[in-house]
Amino acid sequence: MSTQAFEFTPENLQEFRDILSRYPERRAALLPTLHLAQEQNGHISTEVEAYVAQIMELPIVDVREVVTFYSLYFRRPMGHHHIRVCMSIACMLGDCEGIRNHLRTRLGVAPGGVTADGKFSWEAIPDCLGACELAPMMQLDGEYYGNLTPEKVDEILDTADHADKRG
Ligand code: FES
Repeated sequence: MSTQAFEFTPENLQEFRDILSRYPERRAALLPTLHLAQEQNGHISTEVEAYVAQIMELPIVDVREVVTFYSLYFRRPMGHHHIRVCMSIACMLGDCEGIRNHLRTRLGVAPGGVTADGKFSWEAIPDCLGACELAPMMQLDGEYYGNLTPEKVDEILDTADHADKRG
């Protein structure tokens, strides 16, 4: 009987096996496996790292190195919805500063924070998010939203909020 605080659900264990089968080398499956673990747990805790290291047959230090390198992995609990706003050059020219200021006001927390109700967290990312043609842009739960204005940001957040309320 395992004493670990985290383990994949039976469905995710099957998904993990499917992921493994898609890669010629086990190690190459680490990123999608971490992604799956984060989807289940909300963030990559120490327990999740230990579990992933075990099922990937890797030293835990290798797993931690990847988790700390990629900003897509969260090391602490985040909001139910997570926003990443791009602050790189093309988005800068499109006034991402205005978008960042609007998010700060609307959400009431600084970048890196989580709203008091736990619904939203957000980050201002200095590196290009790879969708310059959409500048200024942000990601919400991994989806891309572009040509942002403060009004459009409000619409996107309201839609996410209403979808939650409808369950
Ligand atoms: S600079 Fe923002 S997506 Fe490239």
